[in-house]
Amino acid sequence: MTATPLADLLSDARLVAVLTIESVDHAIPLARALVAGGVRTLEITLRTAAGAPAAKLIREKVPQAIVGLGTVTQRRDLELARDLELPFAFSPGATVELLDAAMALGVPFVPGIATASELIQAMIRGYGVVKLFPAEQVGGVGALKAFGGPFPAMRFNPTGGVTEANMRDYLNLPNVVAVGGSWIAPLADMRAGNWAGIEDRARRAMATLAV
Ligand code: 3PG
Repeated sequence: MTATPLADLLSDARLVAVLTIESVDHAIPLARALVAGGVRTLEITLRTAAGAPAAKLIREKVPQAIVGLGTVTQRRDLELARDLELPFAFSPGATVELLDAAMALGVPFVPGIATASELIQAMIRGYGVVKLFPAEQVGGVGALKAFGGPFPAMRFNPTGGVTEANMRDYLNLPNVVAVGGSWIAPLADMRAGNWAGIEDRARRAMATLAV
């Protein structure tokens, strides 16, 4: 399958910070800390009320960040990504409604899959990159190697249980474009305003990538 702008964006990033933002006040210092640590690609999940306004704010105020949405579960989440002209939107799942809506809306969408049937649903609609979720729990590196047999063109962004300790095992696989993880920005650090700690974790993760 030919590379798409979305596949290129993710393979350039290699690491996507999965962010669940509790307070809009955290958005700017959080994004600045991550960018300072070298992690520019930020998936803002829609699990909290602050998620959508935080994504909008970061996009406006932290131009070095590449902002997309996560935990997309319904069409109106995709409409938000389209309205904000965001370069990516992730979902933990691959419902037919989401797969078709993202295509219709022209939103660069990464559906989440955990089974071959879900992967096929995405593949036959033209999706070339999927998120393996929850990666560690559904077989991790071994599952991705196994999917590479029947689906050699499919590219993966595993998330769920990815950490600084195992990220390289994933990224060494030829069918993995990037990994995602929330470990870089724990809620406790955000609540404590420990932006230096988050910057440090981001820097360590990027150093791990470079080895
Ligand atoms: C996600 O939405 O991708 C996951 O919650 C990220 O998984 P993690 O919290 O185990 O990193």
